[in-house]
Amino acid sequence: MEALIEIVRLEDAQDGQHFGCGNGGLNKYLKREALDHQKKHYSVTWVAQRPGFNRIIGYITLSMACVITETADAELFSGLPHYPMPTLLVGKLAVNIDDQNQHVGSKLLNKAFDIAIEAVESLGVGVHAVELMAIDEKAYNYYLKKGFIPLKKGTMRMYLPLRTLKDALKAAEERKHSAASEIAGS
Ligand SMILES: CC(C)(COP(=O)(O)OP(=O)(O)OC[C@H]1O[C@@H](n2cnc3c(N)ncnc32)[C@H](O)[C@@H]1OP(=O)(O)O)[C@@H](O)C(=O)NCCC(=O)NCCS
Repeated sequence: MEALIEIVRLEDAQDGQHFGCGNGGLNKYLKREALDHQKKHYSVTWVAQRPGFNRIIGYITLSMACVITETADAELFSGLPHYPMPTLLVGKLAVNIDDQNQHVGSKLLNKAFDIAIEAVESLGVGVHAVELMAIDEKAYNYYLKKGFIPLKKGTMRMYLPLRTLKDALKAAEERKHSAASEIAGS
């Protein structure tokens, strides 16, 4: 069943003490470091919670970063300039075990995609791709399903170019319009 959730910025008042995603490092980061890093402007953490509750059921941590073209497979970056390409880095993503498989992770990733597009279109700053490092094979397969591709074959560093993301969103929007016109015409 899909959960009704909202995604908001991490604040002092939110409760992450119960949080357990199955990975000790990711649990500890939320409980001990996320807010401190946010206050120091190293990163911003967005949390998922049920409307009306301050209990954190998932989180995503974002920072600006860059990809050096030499660290990617040559054909992936062919035609791109030979200087570091700007990216939005998903530093952490985790969902509480009892809340997994209810699209909470997908909604948190969509928040990152929205922020990357907003940075380009509204704030006026270049972002070439959303980037991350999968922590294990399970996470790697999850990100593959979400459209990420490995930066270099055989590594866990993955990325999703903004161009691919925008094309996918445009195609989804067009499918929605054509379904709506079919219903209106029937
Ligand atoms: C990985 C994680 C964030 C996914 O979050 P989630 O909320 O459980 O995942 P979602 O519900 O958004 O999954 C959406 C889709 O991906 C699929 N999926 C989930 N895990 C998957 C996996 N390992 N491989 C392939 N597909 C997967 C789901 O079946 C679902 O498919 P559907 O859209 O066809 O129904 C979560 O399982 C988690 O916190 N794991 C432990 C920590 C971790 O590994 N974090 C990643 C750090 S790099």
